[in-house]
Amino acid sequence: MSVQRATITALGHYTPPKILSNFDLEKLVDTNDEWIRTRTGIRERRIMENGASSDMAALAVQNMVERYGVNVAEIEVIIVATVTPDMFFPATAVLVGHKVGAKQAWGFDVSAACSGFLYALATGAKFIESGANKKVLVVGVDKMSAIIDYTDRNTCILFGDAAACVLLEPSGEPGYGLIDHRLYSDGAGGEFLYMKAGGSLNPATHETIDKKMHYIFQDGKNVFKLAVKGMADVSAEVMERNGLKGDDVAWLVPHQANLRIIDATAKRMGIDGHKVMINIDRYGNTTAATIPLCLSEWVATGKLVRGQNIILAAFGAGYTWGAAYVKWSLAKNA
Ligand code: COA
Repeated sequence: MSVQRATITALGHYTPPKILSNFDLEKLVDTNDEWIRTRTGIRERRIMENGASSDMAALAVQNMVERYGVNVAEIEVIIVATVTPDMFFPATAVLVGHKVGAKQAWGFDVSAACSGFLYALATGAKFIESGANKKVLVVGVDKMSAIIDYTDRNTCILFGDAAACVLLEPSGEPGYGLIDHRLYSDGAGGEFLYMKAGGSLNPATHETIDKKMHYIFQDGKNVFKLAVKGMADVSAEVMERNGLKGDDVAWLVPHQANLRIIDATAKRMGIDGHKVMINIDRYGNTTAATIPLCLSEWVATGKLVRGQNIILAAFGAGYTWGAAYVKWSLAKNA
């Protein structure tokens, strides 16, 4: 008997209206537009001024409802990938469920930083594949501006705020939907990208605040090297496992951390630049939101077509990384 695969049947996204451009950042730290563009590919990013991650997520769900006519009352499980939950507890997924009126749903958060959406997608698919559930909402959301030190030029130029979501349902057709995925983690990478305080290791004190330990710390060079290797290796592994060559892939949907990481990954995979989804120039790195945000924007323009082979790939803090192979099944370009 063939496996009941999960497939994406609806998508939505939300990006806050406030734009923080490279020129705005020139006024905050010792940087310039040219340096940021050439080193990262970023021109501007969005900032959520009023509201939390759950508010952005709820707006992304609302966008999905408007575009696809999803009945939220039928959603059974909500999985939210985020490193900027509204608070430690309750889970952001539960708050999102309440805000969108998904009264039947239970939910939980997944913490895997920039790989969060892939982890959550793979987890959500299991509920469908097992036959336990028929409608699983997977959200990637991060309000990175809440944990950024806007006096640190090493990090403040990189990140932005956004939310995006997909609805998973049984595919009903053999060979369509989430076909395969590989996920990895290595805690030895923890010291290169993390938030030092606020958890049980260093609970918040005046000292941790004074030392700015509640902001992102990143050793960019180490992350850069491993991100290229990690994303390319795992994508190649997924392609090989499924007999795919570069020419068979219609779209590479990479996590948007740095245009140079994306270009190097695509090159190693033998995928032409015009088949790579890129919106880092407009949004920066929105952590768990980057991949579903790309998918949601591309499907809206009609460029994602039923039957296409798509590779999703991510690398993030942890370290965590992974890739997924999706045979696109959605016929509606809402
Ligand atoms: N503006 C101007 N100069 C800056 C700067 C900025 N915003 N940030 C750093 N610099 C300076 C550095 O201080 C350094 O100066 P020095 O040579 O006098 O010491 C110089 O630019 C080069 O810095 P370096 O760190 O070598 O730059 P880089 O080419 O590695 O680019 C990152 C830095 C952060 C853009 C890059 O390392 C990166 O993208 N890393 C991965 C980030 C990532 O993906 N994170 C999310 C997890 S997926």
